[in-house]
Amino acid sequence: MFNLEIFDIKLETDILGRNFIYCDEIESTNAELLSGKQQYKKTGTVFLAEKQIAGKGRIDRTWLSAKGLNLTFSILLTKETVAELNINHLNLISSLAVSMAIENLFQLKTELKWPNDVLIDKKKVAGILIETSIKGNNIERVVIGIGINLNQIAFHGDFNLTPTSLKLELRTEIDRENILAEILNLFEELLTELRNKPGNILKDWRSRCKMIGDKISITDGEKVRSGIFYDIDDDGFLLLKRNNVVEKIHYGDVSFV
Ligand code: BTN
Repeated sequence: MFNLEIFDIKLETDILGRNFIYCDEIESTNAELLSGKQQYKKTGTVFLAEKQIAGKGRIDRTWLSAKGLNLTFSILLTKETVAELNINHLNLISSLAVSMAIENLFQLKTELKWPNDVLIDKKKVAGILIETSIKGNNIERVVIGIGINLNQIAFHGDFNLTPTSLKLELRTEIDRENILAEILNLFEELLTELRNKPGNILKDWRSRCKMIGDKISITDGEKVRSGIFYDIDDDGFLLLKRNNVVEKIHYGDVSFV
C-alpha cells in the first residue's frame, strides 16, 4: 500500500501533487489524465496507479510494471502552466527530476539517454512518456507519464535496453513515498528554473548525458541513421553528425553502436 501520510510529509511543492489521485488499477495513468474528466482539471494533478492494464511506452510500446512494486504515475499540466514553455523542454526536466531524485536519495549515479530515459550502468531504470491533448491549434493539456522500477527484481519480455530497478542495484527495499515526493519537489523547482534560466536546464541535461560524442544509431520506423551524437540543440532535439553534416533529429530510438 502506498502511504499517503508519509508522502504528504515529504511533499514540499505548491502545485505538483496537491491534487493527488491514487488508484489500484487503471488502463493507463496517462490516458486517464488526458481524458479531461472534471476531477482532473487542476494543473499539477498527479495520478498514481498500483497497476496499469495498458501502460503506454514511447514509440507505441507497452510499459509493463509489476503491481504495487514500482511507481507508475502521471502529472497533468494545463495550458496556463505550459503557455510560455517549450514542450520539448519538459522531456529534459522530467528526466532530470528522476535522475536527481535517485542521486539525492540513494547516491547512485544515473545517466540520461535522449530523449528522456534514465539509466543506471547502461540499464534502464525509468521511462517517460509525454503526451498532449490539442484543441484546434492549441495545447489544452500536457501529461507527463513516468514509470520507475523500484522494487521489481525480475523482468520478462523483450526489451531494447536491459531493465533494472533500484532494488536490484542497491539490494534493499525502496520506499516509494519518499522518491515520489522528491521527484515532484525537484520537478517543480526545475519548472521554475526552466522559466527563468532555460540555459541551465540544457546544461544540466547535457552534463548527465554521457552519450554525447559517442557513435549511436537512431531508429525511426524502418529508418536507421548512424553517426555521432553531436549535441542537443536549444529546443532539446538531438543533433546527429554524419559525414560532417549535422542533422536535427526530432524523434526516434537511440541505441549504442
Ligand atoms: C518509455 O520508456 O517507453 C516510456 C514509459 C512511460 C511509462 C509511464 S508509466 C505511467 C505513465 N502511464 C502510461 O501509460 N505510461 C507512462
